[in-house]
Amino acid sequence: TSRLRQIKRAVYAVGLGAASYIGWSMYQTRNPGEQEPFDPSKKTLVLLGTGWGSTTMLKNLDTTNFNVVVVSPRNYFLFTPLLPSCTVGTLENRSIMEPVRLLMRHKKREVKFLEASCIDIDVDSKQLLLERRSSSDAKLTGKGGADEEPLKLNYDYLVVGVGGTVNTFGTPGVEEHACFLKEMDDARQIRRRLMDSVEKASFDDITEAERDRLLHMVVVGGGPTGIEYAGELHDFLEDDLSKWYPELVDRVRITLVEALPNVLPAFDKKLISFTQDTFKENNISILTRTMVKEVKDKTFIVQNPDGSRSEIPYGLLVWATGIKAQPITNKIRQKFPEIQTNGRGLLVDEYLRVKGAKDIWAIGDCALSSYAPLAQVASQQGKWLARKFNHLSNDDLITDLFLQMNAKTRPFKYSSQGSLAYIGSEKAIADLPFFNRNITAGGVATFWFWKSAYLSELLSLRNRTRVAIDWANRWLYGRDLSRE
Ligand code: NAI
Repeated sequence: TSRLRQIKRAVYAVGLGAASYIGWSMYQTRNPGEQEPFDPSKKTLVLLGTGWGSTTMLKNLDTTNFNVVVVSPRNYFLFTPLLPSCTVGTLENRSIMEPVRLLMRHKKREVKFLEASCIDIDVDSKQLLLERRSSSDAKLTGKGGADEEPLKLNYDYLVVGVGGTVNTFGTPGVEEHACFLKEMDDARQIRRRLMDSVEKASFDDITEAERDRLLHMVVVGGGPTGIEYAGELHDFLEDDLSKWYPELVDRVRITLVEALPNVLPAFDKKLISFTQDTFKENNISILTRTMVKEVKDKTFIVQNPDGSRSEIPYGLLVWATGIKAQPITNKIRQKFPEIQTNGRGLLVDEYLRVKGAKDIWAIGDCALSSYAPLAQVASQQGKWLARKFNHLSNDDLITDLFLQMNAKTRPFKYSSQGSLAYIGSEKAIADLPFFNRNITAGGVATFWFWKSAYLSELLSLRNRTRVAIDWANRWLYGRDLSRE
């Protein structure tokens, strides 16, 4: 019994410790302390973007050493791996968004944020040209604040972390008729279109062919984004639509179209077959070696494996075929035409310095190195670069941070934590490195591993709490079917 008492005391102590830590973190989030003001004697470091690379860099950067300015058309960080969950209401949108001002307000020295898009750069005078534009302006009007005079911003050091943009490969009709899955606005649009199709299909006065069209949900691209979205969509049909629209659920079809011979080419073969088998069980059709050639407003045209073409009706089409360089990435490339010859992004050296440039670094999907465009890579690059900046700037002797990097530090090296993907019906797949070997796993246990891994990777306790509550809510009450 004394052993039991000791265990009880230990449990109470751990509980009290955890509660105090959570309480303290919450208090600190709500009550940021005083910040040092901008210091004209310090160099100006401009971070472009609020994605994985730039945000992780900002989070780890000691801002006492620089005047930091963050420029992005989006005033929040988006936890993209959970974006497919927002399209069907498994998670609420704000649960995976982290306001960048919250991060900035907790830095030692004041950080400035400009909600704008960088549209050009003068590398000789170290000046950026900014258009006052938010991500929603760009989506809603296509031009945002472009009528206003562009803003000029000087930098001493520039870190480009602008990510990529959706790649349509110039396929006709995609921009006009397809939904993307890259930003929060895209997830909102998918949810609206999905509910639109389902509600329209509920009218009695439409033809059966029209009903089948509206209920045909198509995903183009068999990479992790397309697979995860198809999985989430299946869960929505199975768990929720089946109860609230019982007359429609058997008519709903999900089709995934992939140009290559199989889906998830970057994953282990066993996991590919596991995913294909799970999709089969879940009645998701996979059309491989099939390429979408054109998207019209109610149908799309594919090239079949035998070279023939077919026109297929659809109600919702989600385009998830990967990314290409942002316009500003190309603008920067064009300043160094001899060296920056790869159209996919900015070639960087092993210290993440943009080749041919001076005082410009690139991180994340816009940087071309030997690593894949993954959130993990961007995040590790951001952390690595912040540490280098923190370390180097403490040394008063250093006058040229850019050139000093290779004298003072080891090159950036990516350490893979493995790949995870949710495939629907509470199953996930994992390709994990383990002591120089790869462990592959797929199933329900992996799904719980996927959940805990993503929960721990979320940027703040606030986001973790919200996501956990959303998961609990879904379990208790099901997904919310309201259109918005
Ligand atoms: P992706 O580039 O991995 O896959 C796109 C797929 O679309 C390709 O397989 C391509 O063959 C196919 N495709 C292109 N055009 C087509 C057409 N016209 N018709 C039919 N199929 C077509 O793109 P994704 O999934 O957006 O991923 C981008 C990057 O982010 C990748 O590096 C990926 O590994 C990473 N990622 C990783 C995740 C994870 O590990 N859980 C989650 C999401 C993204």
